[in-house]
Amino acid sequence: MYGLINNSLKDMILQQFGEEKWRQVLAVSGVPEDSFLSMRRYDDSITYDLAGAASEVLGAPVAACLEMFGEHWVLETANKSYGMLLDSAGQDMLGFLQNLNALHDRITSTFLDYVPPEFQVEQKGEHHLVHYRSKRQGLTPFVVGLLKGLAVRFNSRMTILSQTEVEVEQGAHTIFEVEISPA
Ligand code: HEM
Repeated sequence: MYGLINNSLKDMILQQFGEEKWRQVLAVSGVPEDSFLSMRRYDDSITYDLAGAASEVLGAPVAACLEMFGEHWVLETANKSYGMLLDSAGQDMLGFLQNLNALHDRITSTFLDYVPPEFQVEQKGEHHLVHYRSKRQGLTPFVVGLLKGLAVRFNSRMTILSQTEVEVEQGAHTIFEVEISPA
């Protein structure tokens, strides 16, 4: 994954837990110190190793660390570094989710050969189904955090009513049933 993802994880640990914990996470992960150049591509294992080490050092499940990371990505990293891009992708949560593929498409010339996820939104009665499809496995809790971060960004009340894993040959497909209303 591109270094800006690893860098954002580093930034979250520094900001929320301090320098000493970050040193420990880096040491436990065994990840090289130079894995954080935003515009360079690194092996996905670096991101997974950092998340695993954060779980060990912070004494929290990996899923909880990834979820926290998702919120940090939306509310801190993307907000600070890609504010205009975020603003242009929608003024409310559902509109934004519908534009998310277009957002990732727009930056393919910046992030060459990157492998972004795919999102799809469907109406289901009063609720919505948000499909998350990825070539990768294990990042669904990250998406939970991203959705929670977006709810804060758009000042919406969002409840994840259910989360279903669809069997796929490679990667992941999760269907979130969500209820979204203005806060
Ligand atoms: C403007 C802000 C954003 C930028 C610049 C951006 C860019 C990126 C980049 C560079 C990656 C790494 C992919 C790779 O290196 O192969 C990525 C992954 C990802 N992005 Fe975005 N993104 C943005 C916003 C969002 C938002 C708001 C969401 C969801 C609500 C999202 C969902 C994801 C997910 C889930 C991944 C992990 C990859 C996977 O699931 O396979 N992104 N994004």
